[in-house]
Amino acid sequence: MANYTRRTRRQLPGGAPSDMQDISIVQLGLGGVGLALLDQFQALPDASRSGLTLTGVADSSAALYRPEGLDGDTLAAAVAMKRARSPLSAHPEHLPAAAIAQAFERGPAIVVDVTASEATMPTLRQAAEAGCGIVLANKRPLCEDSATWRLLTGSGRLRYEATVGAGLPVISTLAYLQRTGDTVLKIEGALSGTLSYLFTRIENGDSFSAALRSAHELNYTEPDPRDDLGGMDVARKALILARTIGIALELSDIAVQALYPPEMARMPVSDFLAQSAKLDQSYQQQRREAAREGKVLRYLAHVEPGNVHIGLAGVPPESPAGSLHGTDNLLVIHTRRYSNPMRIAGPGAGPEVTAAGVLGDILDLAIAMRAQEQGGRCL
Ligand SMILES: NC(=O)c1ccc[n+]([C@@H]2O[C@H](COP(=O)([O-])OP(=O)(O)OC[C@H]3O[C@@H](n4cnc5c(N)ncnc54)[C@H](OP(=O)(O)O)[C@@H]3O)[C@@H](O)[C@H]2O)c1
Repeated sequence: MANYTRRTRRQLPGGAPSDMQDISIVQLGLGGVGLALLDQFQALPDASRSGLTLTGVADSSAALYRPEGLDGDTLAAAVAMKRARSPLSAHPEHLPAAAIAQAFERGPAIVVDVTASEATMPTLRQAAEAGCGIVLANKRPLCEDSATWRLLTGSGRLRYEATVGAGLPVISTLAYLQRTGDTVLKIEGALSGTLSYLFTRIENGDSFSAALRSAHELNYTEPDPRDDLGGMDVARKALILARTIGIALELSDIAVQALYPPEMARMPVSDFLAQSAKLDQSYQQQRREAAREGKVLRYLAHVEPGNVHIGLAGVPPESPAGSLHGTDNLLVIHTRRYSNPMRIAGPGAGPEVTAAGVLGDILDLAIAMRAQEQGGRCL
């Protein structure tokens, strides 16, 4: 593995020479996305990685941190451990997770949150208060209360492309539309690849339980499929979209339609999968009713001022959402200028594309932070 220790003066991403201190990168999360991100960071061309030093990584158990940068051997050992599903606390040089925050006091830093946890919030708060950059694939921090949203977004040193649509250019497109003076009027979206897969299978004649088992076996669902079927993941994405276009909203304001009844909420996953056949008849009936109106079922998010909701809806098969297949995501963005709406579609999940979205954010934010340090404004 390449040596990551690079604290010397370098050319910046984007090519501008600098005599500034390297930006320290600390990464929280070493799961599917986190490990893909380390691979992609290592494979960057020198000109892109220049000026950035990976100083810390953490999982839920511990951290590795070196102010001068993690050397290749240390990092290779950590990656091998995580691939073998060992905790970082088994690494001989591990530190308490809080050690990672030292990076925030030592010069420019970007903290990258590729966990799915609320527990990173204190670290992110510390980073924001210290003026550090923050890059998120983790939706949860952005779904805390509005005061936290303002704290995280207020500095201009936040990027969160991968929180909605993984590597698809969703958040950056919304930012671009707004920066150029357009007004986003409404966003409609199929924001869960898992649920898109499920309902295209049902449309093709599968029962709900068979489609669910197939999605579970293909690892399209979370280990507990209720994390997808409960709708909260889509609700979080809808909240992030809403807040991004200026709608003041809390997560609790969004009506969420779960795809299973409350009495199935607490049973073990194996029982839930076994008993999911009880829901087949209801979904077949809903499918037939939609078909009678010439429609197909999709689980959709609707985001517009005064009207944010998510749930199952019948849509014409030839509509953008109706013609969606497999695990793709889709966003249809209506704006003042784009009355014939703009569409963004493609893979909305997967460690590789998600990590690519995160990496793009890191490079973009590094350029913006440099510009800001040199007297410009961080956009
Ligand atoms: N996978 C995708 O396709 C995809 C797409 C879009 C967005 N995302 C988002 O990307 C994030 C990561 O997804 P993933 O698939 O990589 O998840 P994952 O495989 O479950 O990995 C999560 C990682 O976070 C670590 N972690 C948990 N709490 C932590 C804490 N307090 N401090 C530091 N590390 C902590 C876990 O540690 P342990 O290893 O110790 O458990 C694990 O390494 C999630 O927020 C997800 O919603 C994922």
